[in-house]
Amino acid sequence: MAKLVYTAITSLDGYVADEDGKFDWAAPDEEVHAFVNDLERPIGTYLYGRRLYDTMVVWETMPSGPDQLPVVRDYAEVWRSADKVVYSTTLANVSSARTRIERQFEPDAVRQIKASADRDVSVGGAHLAAQAIKAGLVDECHLFVTPVIVGGGTPALPDHVRVNLELLDERRFGNGVVHLHYRTKA
Ligand SMILES: NC(=O)c1ccc[n+]([C@@H]2O[C@H](COP(=O)([O-])OP(=O)(O)OC[C@H]3O[C@@H](n4cnc5c(N)ncnc54)[C@H](OP(=O)(O)O)[C@@H]3O)[C@@H](O)[C@H]2O)c1
Repeated sequence: MAKLVYTAITSLDGYVADEDGKFDWAAPDEEVHAFVNDLERPIGTYLYGRRLYDTMVVWETMPSGPDQLPVVRDYAEVWRSADKVVYSTTLANVSSARTRIERQFEPDAVRQIKASADRDVSVGGAHLAAQAIKAGLVDECHLFVTPVIVGGGTPALPDHVRVNLELLDERRFGNGVVHLHYRTKA
């Protein structure tokens, strides 16, 4: 069975976007970007909340000229080669290939996607991932903890849920970001 993986770049105090909705402080440098590219290369399907999809869809049309960084060209290929499911009650149309809209989050439907997928499945952003975590569907988490405290905003992880985790790996990057890789325990 494919794994469901939640990946988030967070502030030290656990937010993916600050109180103004900004996340410029989360932009990966080349080293982190290359690591994320390798992490996402095996992903066959992205389950996206509409807000994260809104920010990610630029990858569909990202120019691939020689003036682009190799990590940017690489990630654009990774993104375009995966299927996407966008959860939204408001989105009328999608503007990327291999993409469909779901109007509600049904845990059983996600279980079905995991059971039938031959590549791993990713879930994000935080609001959608919270529902998957609460439903016990997330198998692994990758957190990229950024050396900044933003004081509030959109939490990376939900309240009112208890999940025991096993630390599988960690890595420290030159820019002070720390990667934490966890598996959920039964
Ligand atoms: N830290 C980073 O590196 C980073 C990177 C990119 C983006 N971000 C930011 O992180 C934030 C993530 O925000 P978020 O967690 O609130 O957004 P999200 O989970 O990506 O999207 C929330 C939206 O998904 C839809 N949705 C969620 N649950 C649903 C359900 N059960 N049924 C149907 N639709 C559902 C709704 O869309 P509708 O309103 O259309 O119904 C909802 O408003 C955004 O501000 C994003 O810009 C951070």
